[in-house]
Amino acid sequence: MFTQRPSFRYIATGALVSLFTLTFLIIGTGTPRELSSKYILKAPSRPCPASSFSGNQSWDFVVERDGNNHGLSEDQCRTAFPKLYNELDKSSALRADRHFTYKEFDSRTVDDGMVRGIIDRGELYIVDYAPMPATATRARATLNSLYRALTAFPDRHLLPSIEFTFTTEDFAGDPNGSGPVWAYSKRDSDVSVWLMPDFGYWAWPEVQIGPYHEVRRRIAAIDDGEFQGDGTYVPGLQFQEKKKQLVWRGSLATNPPVRAKLLKSALDHSWASVRVIDWDNENDIRFNLLPIEDHCRYMFLAHAEGRSFSGRGKYLLNCRSVVISHALEWREAHHAALVSSGPDANYVEVDRDFADLPRKMEYLIDNPEVAERIANNAVRTFRDRYLTPAAESCYWRQLVRQYAAACDFEPVLFSTTRDGKTQPRGVPYDTWLLMH
Ligand SMILES: *[C@@H]1O[C@H](CO)[C@@H](O)[C@H](O)[C@H]1NC(C)=O
Ligand SMILES: *[C@@H]1O[C@H](CO)[C@@H](O)[C@H](O)[C@H]1NC(C)=O
Repeated sequence: MFTQRPSFRYIATGALVSLFTLTFLIIGTGTPRELSSKYILKAPSRPCPASSFSGNQSWDFVVERDGNNHGLSEDQCRTAFPKLYNELDKSSALRADRHFTYKEFDSRTVDDGMVRGIIDRGELYIVDYAPMPATATRARATLNSLYRALTAFPDRHLLPSIEFTFTTEDFAGDPNGSGPVWAYSKRDSDVSVWLMPDFGYWAWPEVQIGPYHEVRRRIAAIDDGEFQGDGTYVPGLQFQEKKKQLVWRGSLATNPPVRAKLLKSALDHSWASVRVIDWDNENDIRFNLLPIEDHCRYMFLAHAEGRSFSGRGKYLLNCRSVVISHALEWREAHHAALVSSGPDANYVEVDRDFADLPRKMEYLIDNPEVAERIANNAVRTFRDRYLTPAAESCYWRQLVRQYAAACDFEPVLFSTTRDGKTQPRGVPYDTWLLMH
C-alpha cells in the first residue's frame, strides 16, 4: 500500500496540472462569446404544490430526537413547523401570476457583500462571489448552512434547480428592484426580497458567539441543568430563581431612535440592567459583555432592532425567560410563531418608543406566574421547535422550492462558446470551500 502512494499523488498532481491548463485555456481565449443561453425556460408551473399538505398523523416532532436533524422530509418539516413558511408564502403570492424572468434576475448586480449561485439537482455552485469588506464570515456561514441543508437531504436531487443571489448585509439594497434577492431580514414592503436564515445558525464569531448548536447546549444547560464531565449533575436555574431584571447589552449606534428610547424608559428603574456596549472599545467589551447564555439568568430580556433585525433575537428566544420587544418591522422566518397575547403568549410586546415598558414590567414582576407561563411557552415554541437546527434546514429547502416556483427559468450549468468550448458557469461548492 505504502509504495503505491507516491504514484497516486503523481497522478493526482498530473490531473491538477491539466485542470489548470484547461482553466488557463478558457481564460486565455479572452472573453469567450457565448452561443448557448445561461438558462432554459420552464414549462408553466402550477402553484407551489406543497401548500395543500395537511399533516402526517403518524409522525410528530420530538426535539430530543429530531431537533438537530438537518434532513427531515418535506412532510415532516410541514408537520413540525406549520407556521415556518409564512414569509415564503407572502413572497410567492406576490409572484403567483408574474414569475421572475432571467432578465429580471440578471438585472440585479452582484455588489459588495453579495453572492450569486446555482443549485443544480441539489448541488451547490458559486457563480459570483463579490468582495466582502465587512461580511466575509457571514457569507461563508450562510453558504455552509445552505450546503448543509442540501447535503443532509437524501432527496436533494429532486429539488428544483435555481439560480439565486443573496446579500450578507443587514438588509438588501434596492428591496423593490426588478430582480429577486435573498436577505437575512425584510420588511413587509420589500417586494423583491426573499427571506433566508441568518448567519447565526452557523456561528457569529465577531461578537464571540460560537456554533449555534453549541450556544443552544449552553443555554439549555442554564435552564434545564447539565451533567458535568465527571458525572455530577448541575441542576438548572428555576424561572423564579432568575434575576428579576430586564437585561440588555448592545450598541446604540446601530439604531439610535429605537435603542435610545429603551435606555430612556429603563433609566433609574431597579428592574433594569440595561447597558451600552461600544464594540470598538476593548475595555468596554471586557466590562460590559455578557456571554449570550448568561442573558438567560435574567427573567426578562429586552429586544430591540438594530440597523435591521437584531441577530440576538433568536438566542434570547432560546431562553426560558420573557422576551420583551417593541413592535417589529424587520421579519425573520420564526417571527410567524410569535404570539403576544392570550394563554399562548410567548413574548411581551411594547410600543416602539418603549413608553409602556415600565407599566408592563411592573405587571410582570407583580404576576410572576404570568411571566413564567410566557417563558415556558417560548421554550416550547422557539427553543424546542421553530429555532431548532432542524427547522433552519427545512426552511432553506422550502426557500429553494418556492423561489423556484416563482421563476420562469432554470439555470444551465455550462455555456458553450462560439468556438465550441464548454465552459462551467459556476465552481462546485465542494471545491470552492477549499479555496476560500
Ligand atoms: C408519515 O410519516 C411516516 C414517517 O416519516 C412515513 O413512514 C409515512 O409514509 C408518512 N405517511 C404519509 C401518508 O405521508
Ligand atoms: C417598495 O414598494 C412598496 C409598495 O409596493 C412601498 O410601500 C415601499 O415604500 C417601497 N420601498 C422602497 C424602499 O422604496
